[in-house]
Amino acid sequence: MRDPILDFSGQVALVTGAASGFGRLLARELGVRGARLVLGDINTAELVTFADTLASSGIAVCAQGCDVAVEADGLSLAELSQSEYGRLDIAVNNAGIAPPMMALEDTNEATMDLQYNVNLKGVFFGLKQQLPLMRERGGTVLNVASMAGLGGAPKIAAYAAAKHGVIGLTKTAALENARYGIRVNAICPFYCQTPMLARMEAPKADPEAMQAFLAGGCPMKRLGEAEEVVAAMLLLLSPKMTYVSGQALAVDGGLSAF
Ligand SMILES: NC(=O)c1ccc[n+]([C@@H]2O[C@H](COP(=O)([O-])OP(=O)(O)OC[C@H]3O[C@@H](n4cnc5c(N)ncnc54)[C@H](O)[C@@H]3O)[C@@H](O)[C@H]2O)c1
Repeated sequence: MRDPILDFSGQVALVTGAASGFGRLLARELGVRGARLVLGDINTAELVTFADTLASSGIAVCAQGCDVAVEADGLSLAELSQSEYGRLDIAVNNAGIAPPMMALEDTNEATMDLQYNVNLKGVFFGLKQQLPLMRERGGTVLNVASMAGLGGAPKIAAYAAAKHGVIGLTKTAALENARYGIRVNAICPFYCQTPMLARMEAPKADPEAMQAFLAGGCPMKRLGEAEEVVAAMLLLLSPKMTYVSGQALAVDGGLSAF
């Protein structure tokens, strides 16, 4: 028998950015705990391969290439949950792009626009399409923000601005939808070991020095593991977590205690 706190049997869960990192790990965890999956990612080839692997292990899954920055793609992914399963219970707006590391005054408009389009408007379009589908039965949405959404983040100003926006959307959506039994939360990881971090390190001559630099500000003196973030995501999505909404949960090795 499954632990009731992490039993997602009968639920339909949509995850964006499911081809890699947190999204990929979370999708698998939800699937093995009974959820039927609707997965989206801009990397269609990787997504389809992953979905095939899940399906071959008996998990109900449908997958569709999408760009979360395009409103019609968000709509079509949400509609897929309706056409395949007739419902949507869980949505995780996780897809995102890494920031280029540069001082605010060196950040150009194109960088700002790209960060806003994917990391902020991608969540906005998702919420717009997902919330109405949950109004009849209730449900829960989890938006992946960042510690850069809770405080200043030197050298990643555009990313920080977009992620602060994600928390604003989360709290507003939580207040507007509480009466429908819909919970909306955000998760705010500190730097974690995912392919995104590897891409951020790529321009650095010494990735180990870069990791040590990033971890230096953290009380635990280490970066997070993707599994540690996904454990917190599962708890926030749990069908037993019925009185938690509008929160931005830091998963940060204690950093936000300062
Ligand atoms: N890894 C970290 O240190 C860290 C820390 C804080 C927050 N986050 C956030 O976590 C989320 C997931 O990041 P990750 O570390 O797993 O990264 P990742 O690069 O491993 O995965 C991100 C996924 O999103 C997809 N994606 C990117 N742009 C997309 C778009 N426009 N439309 C659809 N899919 C798109 C990518 O193809 C990829 O599969 C992001 O929102 C990121 O900002 C990551």
